[in-house]
Amino acid sequence: MKIRIAPSLLAADFTHLADEIRRAEAAGADLLHCDVMDGVYVPNISFGFPVIRQIAKITALPLDVHMMTSCPGKYINVLAESGASIVTVHSDAVEPEEVARTLAAIREAGMIPALALRPGCPAEDILPYAADVGMILVMTVEPGFGGQSFMADMMPKVRRVRALLDEINPACAIEVDGGIGDKTVREAACAGADTFVVGTASFRAPDMGEAVSLIRESAEAAYRAGWQNT
Ligand code: DX5
Ligand code: ZN
Repeated sequence: MKIRIAPSLLAADFTHLADEIRRAEAAGADLLHCDVMDGVYVPNISFGFPVIRQIAKITALPLDVHMMTSCPGKYINVLAESGASIVTVHSDAVEPEEVARTLAAIREAGMIPALALRPGCPAEDILPYAADVGMILVMTVEPGFGGQSFMADMMPKVRRVRALLDEINPACAIEVDGGIGDKTVREAACAGADTFVVGTASFRAPDMGEAVSLIRESAEAAYRAGWQNT
């Protein structure tokens, strides 16, 4: 599995968004992580589709859109039109049938469907959808805010998700989001994560390029070591 680093724009300077995107590109980002929050599913509001549309116009990086919203299914067409590549919905945001319908609609619209588990949701919640997604996001903080501390107690869940995916959908990626930096990335990569959202530790590092390179090197070494140990 290729290691991917996804800087989270939530930690960027919104008054200079185009420059911030250039910085992420120059730092070697693989994806740009866009956190959409509706103030209902999470207690915070971030940015929405007009902003995503503008971002897509000025970058070739795939947009990894994390929908922290209570009705993600309403917005699939607008996400596709806005230039999203990956769309992640939370397993507990809507009823299971609606989760399944939303993931199918994301794929039909030409994007990659992904499923997120917040800290209270067990690995087994992926089972009804695991065959139909391109990525599972295991949250390593409670969703809603950047700059929180990494929850190391989510690592058994990452391992369990990897084991379930190896049975059902081995090509499926595992993303972690929240509190990822050059130390915590090792734990997550060792547990089987391959895609790393990095907000504070990338955009707010003294040198974003150095920070992203170090995080990538740490992740690659730990990912290889993790698999050797299993
Ligand atoms: C939190 C968001 C994250 C956030 C991560 O709810 O989903 O993507 O931007 O920020 P850091 O890396 O600062 O924890
Ligand atoms: Zn996120």
